[in-house]
Amino acid sequence: MADPITLTIDGRPVQAAPGTLLIDAAKTAGIEIPAFCYYEGLTLAAACRMCLVEVEKMPKMMTACTLPVAEGMIARTDTPQVRQARKYMLEFLLTNHPLDCPVCDKGGECELQDMAFRYGAGESRYTEEKVHTPEKQFSPVVFFDAPRCILCFRCVRVCNEGLGVGALGVVNRGVVSEIAPNVGDHLECDECGACIDICPVGALTSGAYRYKTRPWEMTHVGTICTHCGDGCKTTLGTRNDQIVRGNNRDRSGVNGEFLCIKGRYAFDFYNHPERLQSPLVRVNGKLEEVAWSQALEVVARNFNRVLADGGSFGVIGSNHTTNEENYYLQKFAREVLRSNHIDHHRTGDVVTLLDALSGKAGQLATGQLATVSDLYERNAILVLGADLALEHPLLSYQIRANYRHHQAHVYVVTPGPVREDNYAASVVRGRDYESLFDKLKAEPELVILFDDSYKGDDIRKLVEFGERLGIPVKYICLVDYANSRGAVDMGLAPELLPGYKPSGLPGMHLHEMIAADLSALWVVGANPLKKSLARRAGFLVVQDMFLTETAQQADVVLPAASAYEKNGTVTNVTGEVQRLKRAVNTMGAKPDLEIMGLIAREMGAAAALGPWLPDVVFEEIRKQVRGYAVPVPVIATGGAAQTMPVNGRISVENRPDLVHSDHNGLFASGTLGRYSKVLHSVIESRRQ
Ligand code: SF4
Ligand code: SF4
Ligand code: SF4
Ligand code: FES
Repeated sequence: MADPITLTIDGRPVQAAPGTLLIDAAKTAGIEIPAFCYYEGLTLAAACRMCLVEVEKMPKMMTACTLPVAEGMIARTDTPQVRQARKYMLEFLLTNHPLDCPVCDKGGECELQDMAFRYGAGESRYTEEKVHTPEKQFSPVVFFDAPRCILCFRCVRVCNEGLGVGALGVVNRGVVSEIAPNVGDHLECDECGACIDICPVGALTSGAYRYKTRPWEMTHVGTICTHCGDGCKTTLGTRNDQIVRGNNRDRSGVNGEFLCIKGRYAFDFYNHPERLQSPLVRVNGKLEEVAWSQALEVVARNFNRVLADGGSFGVIGSNHTTNEENYYLQKFAREVLRSNHIDHHRTGDVVTLLDALSGKAGQLATGQLATVSDLYERNAILVLGADLALEHPLLSYQIRANYRHHQAHVYVVTPGPVREDNYAASVVRGRDYESLFDKLKAEPELVILFDDSYKGDDIRKLVEFGERLGIPVKYICLVDYANSRGAVDMGLAPELLPGYKPSGLPGMHLHEMIAADLSALWVVGANPLKKSLARRAGFLVVQDMFLTETAQQADVVLPAASAYEKNGTVTNVTGEVQRLKRAVNTMGAKPDLEIMGLIAREMGAAAALGPWLPDVVFEEIRKQVRGYAVPVPVIATGGAAQTMPVNGRISVENRPDLVHSDHNGLFASGTLGRYSKVLHSVIESRRQ
């Protein structure tokens, strides 16, 4: 690293790396220079002039957000002249501002309000009539109030640079300049809300949140988005036991500030009118509401009857439920129900990847599985098969940021056009990644991502290809849902126990269970009969949030809590474990773990399974599942810890035929997506 530069800010000696902007150098020394248009990670705009400072030997005041530090530089950020400049800038910014803070969503967390309070004048010299334009609705989730806009262009830049969408621009000039959407009077975009979140004032507001509360009236709960496998941390703002907002402004978690539409808005499924709030038991052919005690008694009685008769059990788990729930469920199936018919919907061939990497000179131990941050830090990325911007928005965002900030080389091998094409070093349509061999060999390192169109032997060939490159290669096997990876890690498969230990026992797979005449089938958080399949099992129990196609055919339906209503852990697409934290409660519903525990207690089998408390089960997972002995303080404080669940061959029969992804796009999310009004309200745009 080049030698640091020494400069003086407000009389204090400060050291900074060459190229550091004065505004950032001041920040590291604890000196705040006010700014609106400057935003870390985005290009410089120098539009607002709030950051003016005095620099010795410069003829006029300088914008600290565009001035790189220099050896011996002497800057002053708090002189009478600087304070006066800030006051005048605020006076300009407020020329046409409606001063409607008491009814503005941003009131209480508005940067303009804060600056006016700190640096502004108490009165304005402008007495002319203010220019007013009516509020506009750009989309179901994005509203725009031009008079509040200070033209900092953060929204334009985050959409263009951060998202790669470029749906916002500026029209007109001077005092009538306005932010405008990309298609006539409306937006066709990712509807991610990043522009709203980044707006320092209340000019862009959210259709989901506007006028619902003041910021200080909310409780803020950091948890994990339950939609795709990327595992974004989301901070849910709750009020009166209702979720009113999702964002991640504290930048904790693997995603920093990023959230796609699903993480920011599609929490709304949790209070859909069709949400189940009472257990249902089939009486005379019809499902009827009953008390929890009654429903649990029916389940326990029938499970004990099947056990006593030596009947067969099938258990289907979920890729949404927590690690603790999945672990407890497979233990319940294997130890209490004495059945190895246990499975879940596999959305990526993780097993083959882990096996292909295992036993190869300890490669796993040296980190052959990439993390989300690797996508931002590594020099080269190879995308195989997937349309990341639609199916894995966070991963797509990370790769784009890596290209913007570090000029990463991105290689794309996909069947059709994808957003990454726009800046890729090479694009190949189809599957011929071998044609990139020479280019990839010249890279210092590589991360390869692949979707479910690569499974079984395709993955083994890919790992061999990676070895032939002779450079460090890391892999990401793309999976669909919030805990797809955790489901297989926890042994929701007949051939695998937790931690990829072979079960050594025969057992039915998901599709075999739904076609078999089992004595009892227990479905937790899944919808295996969604394609109008008729139920075959003698007794069917379903735990779910909604009366899905599978639940409609059940003998007992137990209303389950959503991810936002429980504690536990989930493991994302890159194998990083993070903690779910309960934000709200839905009356009548219970977390799946508690439901399983209550069934066990009712059956008289609870002692065999231990307490059904998430923390206690996670302790058992840490001991039993290889790689999960992650540091608890890291995840307890909202961080992510990567798991390395295998180091050795996985000697089970390879079943890549069971793997299929749902390829949910930006505005879909399996069963949950069906119950999100927001996802149904927006316009699908496949603009790349
Ligand atoms: S919602 Fe997202 S994609 Fe749409 S304009 Fe705003 S930043 Fe761009
Ligand atoms: S809408 Fe907000 S973010 Fe966009 S230019 Fe105006 S003030 Fe800045
Ligand atoms: S990228 Fe995935 S995890 Fe992140 S907010 Fe969107 S749906 Fe949720
Ligand atoms: S922050 Fe420097 S000009 Fe806006």
